[in-house]
Amino acid sequence: MTKSKFNKIATSISVFALVLCLVSFVSFQKAWTVSAADSGIKNPVKADAASVAAGKALYTKSCKMCHGEKGDSKAAAPSNFTSKEFKAQTDGAIYTKINNGFGKMPAYKAKIKEDKERWNLVNYLRTL
Ligand code: HEC
Repeated sequence: MTKSKFNKIATSISVFALVLCLVSFVSFQKAWTVSAADSGIKNPVKADAASVAAGKALYTKSCKMCHGEKGDSKAAAPSNFTSKEFKAQTDGAIYTKINNGFGKMPAYKAKIKEDKERWNLVNYLRTL
């Protein structure tokens, strides 16, 4: 192999590796980052017994098949709603994740039309 051919191949490989790093970094960021503005959204629905019960009913119907009864990562979805890391998030951040989805997590903004119902889910997840 000539030196210039080797250089060309080496350059192509470096460029490819760089692009691969960038793509994985960007998709990783997108999956888990909630903007400060979205994190700051205030929960307009009081976490009273009625809201939590409505959230639980919806969770049982739409979320349990992936997140399991207890939402503790023992089921198909790796998220653990009972963990310190999860509880440290704001209501706005959890609400945004439910709205937008990411990876295998579906987006629910269009599927669950009432805003209030998605806030009921946030209120229920807080009790796990
Ligand atoms: C098809 C399976 C599936 C269904 C149904 C599903 N989820 Fe998820 N969910 C996931 C997966 C997988 C993740 C983790 C995504 C990742 O790690 O990339 C996740 C992540 C989440 C997170 C983020 C957790 C964190 O640690 O911040 C929340 C909140 C959530 N789901 C709520 C819900 C709610 C509420 C419902 C029902 C309305 C629901 N999910 C239905 C698969 C599902």
